[in-house]
Parts: sequence; structure tokens; C-alpha cells
Amino acid sequence: MAISPNSKNKFYVTTPIYYVTAKPHLGSLYSTVLADVVSRWNKLQGKKTFFVTGTDEHGQKVANAAVAAGKQPKEFVDSFIDAYKSVFKSFEIENDHFIRTTDPYHEQAVQKWLKMLIDKGDIYKDFYEGYYCTQCELFVTLRHESDSSASVFAEASTDRQDDRDQVERKVILCPDCGRETEIVSEECYFFKLSKYQDKLLEFYKKNPDFVVPKERLKEVVNFVKSGLKDLSISRTKITWGIPFPGDDKHVTYVWADALNNYITAVGYGQKNKEEEFEFWWPADLHIMAKDILRFHAIYWPAFLMASGLPIFKRMLVHGWITVDKRKMSKSFGNVVDPIELEKLYGPEPVRYYLVRQMAITQDGDFSIEDLEQRISSDLANDLGNLLNRMVTLAYKNDAKVIQAPKIWGESELELRGDCLNAISDFQTYMADYQFHMALGSLWRFINKVNAYFHAKEPWKLVKTDRDAFLQVLSATGHSLCAIAILLWPIMPKKMELLLHSLGIKFELGKDLVQDISLGKWDEAFTLQKIDTLFTKPSFDRLRMSGGTQQKEKSVLKEEKKQDYIKIDDFAKVHLVVGTVAQAESVEKSDKLIKLQVDFGDLGTKQIFAGVKKYYKPEELIGKQGIFVVNLKPRKIMGMESQGMMLFAEGEDRKLQMATVFGQVPNGMRLK
Ligand code: MSP
Repeated sequence: MAISPNSKNKFYVTTPIYYVTAKPHLGSLYSTVLADVVSRWNKLQGKKTFFVTGTDEHGQKVANAAVAAGKQPKEFVDSFIDAYKSVFKSFEIENDHFIRTTDPYHEQAVQKWLKMLIDKGDIYKDFYEGYYCTQCELFVTLRHESDSSASVFAEASTDRQDDRDQVERKVILCPDCGRETEIVSEECYFFKLSKYQDKLLEFYKKNPDFVVPKERLKEVVNFVKSGLKDLSISRTKITWGIPFPGDDKHVTYVWADALNNYITAVGYGQKNKEEEFEFWWPADLHIMAKDILRFHAIYWPAFLMASGLPIFKRMLVHGWITVDKRKMSKSFGNVVDPIELEKLYGPEPVRYYLVRQMAITQDGDFSIEDLEQRISSDLANDLGNLLNRMVTLAYKNDAKVIQAPKIWGESELELRGDCLNAISDFQTYMADYQFHMALGSLWRFINKVNAYFHAKEPWKLVKTDRDAFLQVLSATGHSLCAIAILLWPIMPKKMELLLHSLGIKFELGKDLVQDISLGKWDEAFTLQKIDTLFTKPSFDRLRMSGGTQQKEKSVLKEEKKQDYIKIDDFAKVHLVVGTVAQAESVEKSDKLIKLQVDFGDLGTKQIFAGVKKYYKPEELIGKQGIFVVNLKPRKIMGMESQGMMLFAEGEDRKLQMATVFGQVPNGMRLK
């Protein structure tokens, strides 16, 4: 195509593609809403946009979930697709394409891509023996073992001899989610990631704005500087994946499959789609949460470099929605069902809450109380009431058509100046994806308009000076018009309704942000009465004791139910009281303490506890604790562990021993 990338008036934005092990929750919706806001913000400026979201359907995690559900993997993933599409539709998500990694065009393009890299010599076959976290679909190297912070990186290792020596001896926790990893030992294809280390560092240096927020780029650079090892990109232990070209024993590692969705969705590797691909690629923005930063900031650019393709322009890394400060996630059983929220509050107030409440790059706790507060105060009071009061007053005084005055008064000129500043601030924050700041600053302007309207007292003015009265309505109308246009990406239908109430038909095509930035204020409004723009959540329900808790329960209920176990399941776990008779530090481990535990009539058992960080061995001796004693024994560093000691994380993050209150004979089973 003849068009150079800079001359293209286009914007291509993506969300991560979601693992389909359950229906979407508020976390999956969050990234998707952000991407929709970005896409609409660009549309508003007259750009051609392409917005892709979709589902990541292969890999061990999905395969395991399918087995647990008693279904074939394809049947299992198929069963969730409608739920994803309909949740997105209910929340006014206007994606241009929904990609599934099981789509044949994607599978074929990934195979072509692999073949090309094999031919080029960037993929080779070898052996991997190490650790794997199924939850995160992550190969974990030993160098990360002692670091458990969520932001550290892990990767596949080619340091195989070193790994093999240690595999027998260590319990490795995933550096991302903290769960125990499993040992993997298999023949693999490797991608020569190490070859791209210097090129990546050079790229980051030349593109300091590549990652939003900037601080995250530092983490990436430090990690790459510490040395990249080659990346395992195939698995033989699972069959649910894209077959590796020319070697049916292997399937493609789920991340090598999934990351490519960003190019296959716009035509990569497909016949007659070359122009389309050249038009849209590189993507302008990939959006994701912080847990998958490494995959996007390191592997994906390296894959693109190897493929000779331009690197995407930017990535936006947002925080997590949490519940009681814990990541909202299906595996923690604390997910909020967006459909329940939509039924209670409507889609657009929820979109507004997500974008306004969350400080984009930080974690934010979900709360019904905050949501209701936002709807009631920001939307119903500040914005909805202003429109309503203006239109009602105009109708009452037979002023449905309002012309702009020839000469504006002093306070109106001041308001117009505030409006132009608000537009400019909004643009600045949006360009940096600081959505909550953009909305915060816009609301300061909305409050100024309210203050202006109040101070002018148009309901009195109409009796003394009709022109001045009409001028107040016109200035308020112009302010509301600019506000509605800026808010359209966040609440499209509501803002179209607001504009309709001003007699304006919302139409995309030209740069509407530029339009309002000119501050012409020469519009004639033909006012229309509309139903209430935003309804306040019912405070009667709030006043009832536990009103918000009730609602919190109703949005959280569904997944919680799925988490229940039957009494027979509980009975399978033997929880027994025992006293630590001996405790010694395991020399080569920085976590483990070896315990001999006295279970009375049940005898003594050897049990390992990963609590060296929190306790000295002698502190545990003589303590009575609770243990699971019927876990299948397993080898830890060559020694048998015959159970598990229970701990809970205390406020200071120290692990506190679970124990019984009062004296209980050793060997007593908990019931
Ligand atoms: N399948 C991979 C992504 C592959 S992209 C090539 C994956 N899927 S995921 O379903 O586990 O999570 C994907 C994304 O969902 C996260 O990056 C984030 O954008 C969103 N979120 C999931 N839970 C979330 C929260 N609790 N809070 C905010 N976003 C969350 O990783």
C-alpha cells in the first residue's frame, strides 16, 4: 500500500484475549471497556479504528478445565462464547472483530509463522526440564525461585543441565501467582529469544514511551538486562493446541499461539488480506493488566523482530480490580458478575464507574457503595439534574428554541474559557490514557457550569431580562454539548440522548473534538424533553440495614455457589492436631523447615513447611498445629513429606500457624 504509516488516520487497539474457563467477569469487562473507550475516543476524532477482542482457547489450563467439566475442549470453549459476546454487547462494546484462537484462519497463520521461523533458524528442537505453572501458563526458571512478588518475570530456560540437577530437590512457587508449580520434563521447540536481547534493549531505549505507565518499562529493561534465555514454545504433554508444523507430537505453547492473534486478526498470513494487514499493522495500542506485561513487552516484540514486522506502538498496563484487596479472579471465587450489575444499574453507569473510579495503573477495590455514590452524585446530581433543570425551565418559559447571543456577557466568556481549558485538559489526559484524571478534570468543569447556572438564577432572570435568561440557557447548552461529546466514548447512548435533548444529532465522521475546541459557541438549540438521564440508585434499599451488602452478595453470588463443596468432599480431607516435636532448617532451601510431628496414636510424621522467612525452627518446636495428614506423600529434595501444616497469612503478611484453642490430644481429627 502506498500510504505511509504516519499519514494513516487510523487507530488499531486490542484487549488481551481471555482464557475461556468460565463466563466473563468484571475484570475481563474492565480491559474491554477501556479498549472500547480508546477506540471511540479515536472515532470521535474522525479516525478509522479497528478494535479486536476475543478468546484464548488452547493450552493446559483450558484443557484441564474441560476435563473437570467432563467435556471435550472444543465443546467446552464453545459453551462460553455466547456469554462473552453478549456481555460485551450489553455493555455497548463496539469491537470490530472477535477472534477465537480456534478459528481456522488463526491456526493456519500461526503454523505458517512457525514454519517461517523454523526455516529462518530462530526455532530449534531441544529438551526442557523445569517447572510449569498451569494457572499462568508459564515456564518458570530457577533464578526466580526466591522472588515471589507479582511483578517479577519468569521465562523458559535452556539451562537444562542446571535445571535437571535441581528439579528433584526443590518446591518452586510460581513467581506470579504463588501457586506450586509442577515439574515438566519434555522435548521442546525453542525460540531464540536470547538472540534478541540487545535489539530489545535498543528498542526500549529509542522508545521510552512504549509502556504506559513508564515505571513498568524499567522493570522490563532490568529483566532483559539480567539476561534472556531461549523460550520453550511447544508442549508434548498436552494435545489441546495448534499442532506444530511438521511435528505432530508437539502443540504450540499457548502464548506463542495467543500473542499472534494481534496480527492474524487483521489478516496476517491470509490470502488476499495483505493490504488489510498493511493498513492496520502495527497496532497502536495493546491493553492488558500488569500480570501479563512480560509476555507483551518482551516475547511479543521479539517475535515481531524475528518475523521482520514492525513493533506495535504502545502498551497500556492497567491494575487489577480487587475484592477485599485480592485480585478478582475465578480461581479465587470472588468474581463480580457484570450482568447482575447491568440489571441493577444499566450498562453505562457501570462503564463510567470503571473508568472513573479506578486509578488506571493501580489496583482498585470494587465496591457497590462507591458505584452507587458515583451514579448518584456525579451522574444523577451533577450532570443529569443540570440538563433536566435547564430543559424544564426552558419549556416552562416557552423557550424551546435557543439562539446563541450575538455578544456574550462577561461571565459567559469566562465559562467558555473554562470550557476550552476543560477540553484541552481532557485531551491531554486521554492522550496519556489517564482516564480517571480526564474525568476528574471534566467534572470540575461540570461543577463550574452548575455554579454558574445557580449564580445566575435564570428562574428569576426570566421575569426581568429575557435576553439574559436566554443567554444563560445558551451558555449552559454549549457547555453541556461539549461535555456530552467528550463523554461519548465512555457513555455513548446516554450522551447521544443528552445531545438529542439539545436538539443535536450525534454523527461521527469529522474530528468532533477539534470542532468543540474551536469554542465557536454559535449553536442554536431546539430543546427536547427526555426521560431522566440517570436514575439514582434506590436509597431506600441502601437505608435498609445491609442494603449494599445485599447487592454485593447478589453480584458476587454466582461464582460463590460454584465454589461450594459437599460434606463428603470435606470428609475426604483428614485435618488432625499434632505437636511439632523437632524442627530443623533445610540447608539448601531458603524456604523450607523440616518437621517431625507427633500425632499421638497415629505416630510421628515428617512434614515440610515453607516458612523459613517467618519462623526460626526452634520457634516451632512444642507448638500444636493443624495438619492435613492424608495427602499423598511426595519427595521434596529427596526426602519424603507426609503431610501439610496449615498457616494463614496475617495482617503483616507473616504466615501464622493455624492452631486449636485449649489443650487437645495429638492425633485428634477436626470435625
Ligand atoms: N489469555 C491470556 C492473555 C493472552 S493475550 C495474547 C490471559 N488471559 S486471562 O483471562 O487470564 O486474563 C486476561 C486479562 O483479563 C488480563 O490481562 C486483564 O486485562 C483482564 N483481567 C482479568 N482479571 C482482572 C482483574 N481482576 N482486574 C483487571 N483486569 C483483569 O492472561
